[in-house]
Amino acid sequence: MRVDRSVALAVVRRVLPGVVAVSAVLLAALAGVSTPAQPRPREALAAEKGPYLQNGDRTSMVVMWETKEAGDSVVEYGRTKDLGQTARGENGTTHEVAIAELSPATTYYYRAVTGGAASDVRSFTTAPDRGANLTFCAYGDSRSNPLIHQRLARLMSAERPDFVLNAGDLVKDGRNADEWTPQFFRPLRELMDHVPLFPVLGNHENNSRFYYSLFSLPVDSPGRERYYVLRWSNALFVNLDSNLPLLASAPQMQWAAKALAASTEEWKFLHFHHPPWSSGGSRTSRPVREAIHALATAHGVDVVLTGHDHQYERNTVDGVEYFVVGGGGAGLDEIKQREGDATFRLFVKEYSYARFEIAGRRLTCQVKSVKDEVIERLTIDKSGGQVKKTEALGTVRDARLLACNLPRDGDHGAGGGDEGF
Ligand SMILES: [Fe+2]
Repeated sequence: MRVDRSVALAVVRRVLPGVVAVSAVLLAALAGVSTPAQPRPREALAAEKGPYLQNGDRTSMVVMWETKEAGDSVVEYGRTKDLGQTARGENGTTHEVAIAELSPATTYYYRAVTGGAASDVRSFTTAPDRGANLTFCAYGDSRSNPLIHQRLARLMSAERPDFVLNAGDLVKDGRNADEWTPQFFRPLRELMDHVPLFPVLGNHENNSRFYYSLFSLPVDSPGRERYYVLRWSNALFVNLDSNLPLLASAPQMQWAAKALAASTEEWKFLHFHHPPWSSGGSRTSRPVREAIHALATAHGVDVVLTGHDHQYERNTVDGVEYFVVGGGGAGLDEIKQREGDATFRLFVKEYSYARFEIAGRRLTCQVKSVKDEVIERLTIDKSGGQVKKTEALGTVRDARLLACNLPRDGDHGAGGGDEGF
């Protein structure tokens, strides 16, 4: 679901009398007049899901949670743990509250309140202005294995990302309401309470209505939440639904081409489920691969993030980095049809995630396993007026590293070594 921000603004304005009341309390305190303390919720909120963050940007954030019983949707928030401001959403069991008129790059504290019961106080940080450094994590295929998913979520939380991308197949069957809590929201509880997550649709979601009710995503495309753009500092993310047609004539692809052509961001990413290049056996058809690659090369896309096959893999095609980050929990894949030497970099059979850090014209990617081992590091440096890449294999050396074209120990040929780390 997606709350109209103008409605959210109206809600914020409606609660301004609360701010006036707080000011009155301060004045009364200064005058030595005692006032009764504000009533505080006494019960711990029994949330089935969340509270979790959605759709954050420079000036707003959406807080969501789900309760068994329908009730009101209130978020108390502020720049300190004393909170002090209030935003509201519609009553129901799936609660969605948009907080607007926030300041960029600012930490806010919040708690979710329904029926007089409140969550613990948590925090989030709004997106920065253009040009600030950013850090995000990317992974996918988190379905079917909550223990692995939870371990990955903890590792990603420790990376202190600004946001997280999930490349789809969030749960085994998105039409089954009972799967969303154990497979997705519970493993992510201690990550999504302070970091917004931006998903795309995998095939396992089956385009379920629950996807749209449980997430609040940008609605800037004809597909609304089905495909959308995310902008954060100097990076543009075009998030696609690869269950829909992906040939150049498809409406989604025409929209994506326009979004990329209009972008002035330094870094451009495509993010969708089905991989054009993958050795795991499920790469897209050749026409789709060609259409995606034509889109990427025509608009200077730096990185393509996908899942669907359950491994970590990277292929480099005409300078575009094609990642498969499908090691989020679903049963791991073997190499079934290895990509050719001209593009292939490495394939690792391991539960894993990728952390990206962007500082100006330099991008650093570190891929780590669920065992907290570094799988590989990649930098893309555009600061010298041309693109310079450095790649280095991490510590994974056993059978999980099924194939690798990266330089090995003692082989410090072009692009190898640990330079820059
Ligand atoms: Fe899939």
